Amino acid sequence: MTPPRVSVHRARRRFTALTVLALVSTFALPVLSASPAAAATPLRTLAAAKGKFIGFAAATSPLANEAAYRTIAQTEFNQITAENAMKWDATEPSDNSWNFSGADQIVNFAVANNQVVHGHTLVWHSQTPGWVQGLGATAMRSAMQDHISTVVGRYASNAAVQSWDVVNEVFEENGSFRSSFWYNTLGQSFIADAFRYARAADPDAKLCINDYNVEGINAKSTAMYNLVQSLRAQNVPVDCVGFQTHLATQYGFPSDLQQNMARFAALGVQVRVTELDVRILTPRTSAKDTVQAQYYTNVVNACLAVTACAGITIWGFTDKYSWVPDTFPSEGFALPYDSNYAVKPAYTAINTALGGSPNNDTQAPTTPGTPTASGVTSSGVTLSWTASTDNVGVSGYDILRAPGTSGGSFTQVGTSTSATFSDTGLSANTSYRYQVRARDAAGNTSAASSAVTVTTTGGGTGDTQAPSTPGTPTASGVTSSGVTLSWTASTDNVGVTGYDILRAPGTSGGSFAQVGTSTTTSFSDTGLSASTSYRYQVRARDAAGNVSAVSSAVTVTTTGGGTGGGCSVTAAVQTQWNGGYVIQPVTVTNTGTSAISGWTVTFTLPSGHALVGQWNGVITVSGGTGTAKNANYNGALAPGQSTTFGFQVSRSSSDNSTASGFTCATP
Ligand code: XIL
Repeated sequence: MTPPRVSVHRARRRFTALTVLALVSTFALPVLSASPAAAATPLRTLAAAKGKFIGFAAATSPLANEAAYRTIAQTEFNQITAENAMKWDATEPSDNSWNFSGADQIVNFAVANNQVVHGHTLVWHSQTPGWVQGLGATAMRSAMQDHISTVVGRYASNAAVQSWDVVNEVFEENGSFRSSFWYNTLGQSFIADAFRYARAADPDAKLCINDYNVEGINAKSTAMYNLVQSLRAQNVPVDCVGFQTHLATQYGFPSDLQQNMARFAALGVQVRVTELDVRILTPRTSAKDTVQAQYYTNVVNACLAVTACAGITIWGFTDKYSWVPDTFPSEGFALPYDSNYAVKPAYTAINTALGGSPNNDTQAPTTPGTPTASGVTSSGVTLSWTASTDNVGVSGYDILRAPGTSGGSFTQVGTSTSATFSDTGLSANTSYRYQVRARDAAGNTSAASSAVTVTTTGGGTGDTQAPSTPGTPTASGVTSSGVTLSWTASTDNVGVTGYDILRAPGTSGGSFAQVGTSTTTSFSDTGLSASTSYRYQVRARDAAGNVSAVSSAVTVTTTGGGTGGGCSVTAAVQTQWNGGYVIQPVTVTNTGTSAISGWTVTFTLPSGHALVGQWNGVITVSGGTGTAKNANYNGALAPGQSTTFGFQVSRSSSDNSTASGFTCATP
């Protein structure tokens, strides 16, 4: 079923900058949909949710030297196989001379990125140095044991390194054992020995047999099946079977992949896709991309359908560093990212098959409407614009600003996820231009909108609308020298920034002059004369300097001060019941040094309390405040002299509060 693979790749080939350049010039790369890295859920996230790993074969040079390579490597994958760095010629180029620089580099990267490592490969006929190949049987077996125990032993306690390809490619296409130096020197026993040595070096690692053209059910895969079955019957520690899965669109898809995985799984072993790539005949076309994507989909689906399939390793991820063009003449473009690290349909296919909704989106949002400015102040402006539309969805807007009414350049001053933005920190009486542009989740940006010019206030331009007139002030806390004023706030199209407080002497006539400002709706005036009347007005301002009309005036008379003034008050609850109480006596005392002719006691009456009786005073209630003035017969008090008054209050039967906060003033 599966056509013979072109087997010209056994000799090790390394990529050089030269070969990459040669490829680019040899194949005229068609312009296909090359989008920036799409904002899709990473493959590793999706695969983990399915209980599978998704990995790639790592090449040490780009891993060390290319940030773009590393970014995809760590973002998209949770498993790594060393493409070459753990092979015998890399780790033990001459007898007992070890080099783990590349292997360690990859393991360290994996540890740093929470990825697992599959060790590849211990015993293989290819990429094994000549000194091994020339050994006699005894020396070769012991070289194999030494190599396995040293390489596997090095990482046995590293939790990231979880599995090994113990033997690789031991079969011919017809199912007989490959006529390799291993087999020819040691016979098939080298296979069982290799597994036992590996188990001894790391009892916890999963130990695999790996091969190509074993994806479908055929003579080679059946030979492998029989070998695994017989090894396990002899308690040889074979834990997993690797299907390399180097596919080519011109040879068709091994449609019994899932069925083949399932029969191996029934032997009790784990299966895994170890070296997936799907090459096409050059040149690349979108039709071939589509077929390739379908193959990737099929492989993912097969692995998802077989519980024993642990995961999938792709043999690289970018066409920039694929073994295919070096190995198979006129073939290439086998991987899910192109040579510029842009995702291809194959990526979308893998992502989708793993349950993602990748956004392979290259269409930019429409240009937003020209912004309109509102709420212009001396330091800020609010911009609004007509929203952009997008084939997938607008994810946000960039807000750009340039100085002045012309010239200068636009720079980004903010972002917004809605079609409005408030800029702040501007200079007063200064012009700015604003543009906006839209983004989508894939990073596509629209053209910038037309510009709106905004001039901040502060120089007589912009906001010309004054705040509304404040309410008439009310006075409280009147003393012999001060008063607190409060008023109902003004409103403004932009915003009230403060109030001016104006005062005039007497109860009429004279003129109002500003005595203070307030940013709230109250103001305390001080330094007044005792027993003196004043009138107060307020007016509101906004940031642009617009001023409202003045409010109506309130007249305030300070209490009697000086050496002769002063009174104190005490109050007692004489009796109370559900629904009412009596305050008696309320005692007023002249605490001054001269006679007083009258007094005023104020107190707080809780909400829902009503005055129902009073004696020896004249009590009025307004807005929760009771004001008791002397009766005409008990206002005059000599220094130290006291008088009393009282009152009765009704309240709700569930309320046990009483009047409180008694203060006394003269007169
Ligand atoms: C390949 C590498 O990708 C190349 O860089 C190298 O030159 C040759 O080997 N089967 C395997 C892999 O088990 O180790 C091979 O990797 C591809 C075929």
